[in-house]
Amino acid sequence: MSKPKVIVTRKWPAEVEAQLKALYDVQLNESDIPMTADELKKALLTADALLSTVTDSITADILNVEGKRAKIIGNFGVGYNNIDINTAKAQGLLVTNTPHVLTDCTADIAMLLLLMSARRAAEGERLIRHQQWTGWKPTQLIGQKVTGKTLGLIGFGRIAQAMAKKAHHGFGMKILFYAPSQPPQNIIDDLQATRCETIEELLSEANFVSLHCPGGEATRHLINEQRLKLMRPSAHLINTARGDVVDSKALIKALKEGWIAGAGLDVFEGEPNIDPGFLALDNIALLPHLGSATEETRIAMGNRVLANIAAFFTGEEPEDRVV
Ligand code: DGY
Repeated sequence: MSKPKVIVTRKWPAEVEAQLKALYDVQLNESDIPMTADELKKALLTADALLSTVTDSITADILNVEGKRAKIIGNFGVGYNNIDINTAKAQGLLVTNTPHVLTDCTADIAMLLLLMSARRAAEGERLIRHQQWTGWKPTQLIGQKVTGKTLGLIGFGRIAQAMAKKAHHGFGMKILFYAPSQPPQNIIDDLQATRCETIEELLSEANFVSLHCPGGEATRHLINEQRLKLMRPSAHLINTARGDVVDSKALIKALKEGWIAGAGLDVFEGEPNIDPGFLALDNIALLPHLGSATEETRIAMGNRVLANIAAFFTGEEPEDRVV
């Protein structure tokens, strides 16, 4: 029997690509240049499985291409807002993601940004790199203490809970969260967490606000000018979720005018393009979407996709089926 044809849209860890080569008739992307809309359409026409990732915008137009051979899209990433899920479903395409394996590393990056923002680490690093450091002084780059402060999490899924664990048990932080559904009581008890009835309540009480909701239309600009104004002037906003959850222009204004003290971003509206307004600010730490970027996690993400498509091709239900 011939091997299923699989097309991978970006470069993946070598170990995972080796397995793909052994198991499938695979087309890899050695150049790692993102595929165009036409190339993605062609992939759906010629492959049994398309292995996409967060940088591939798989729109309704692409998914509606006539004469598709593909039956499954194995997305490399826990977020799948890059795929028009309703159209995929309507077109009978099965979509999978890669949950669980990136939880801790993404929570670590959120914690890193929180610490960087609070302790002005990016500013300090720039000072040294630009050879402008003239030596220690009692009033230099004074940040804010993290230990014992209040962390407010918007969204309380796996990554938020992992961050809460590190923040509460490691830094003695008080945990507030806002989530549409009630998490299990044992988790709340372990974290001594308090559920806020509204986002507004959380914003006004937290010293640090970290975003952990999915991207997409429902959460676009959830953090807008009005909500930023509710935060404390000493507060910091951390975003490792999706760029469009925050209105960039409003955040730039908030940081410039001192409505809040700082921010840490790992994700951006329209990334990889960065609003130049961010680059002109000192009170922001910027990372290039590094949440899951560890050797262990990226290999585990690839293996998760492999397991999902293997299940599909043997007629089983993939564990991480989204639709
Ligand atoms: C995801 O998985 O959704 C991240 O944004 C990339 O790791």
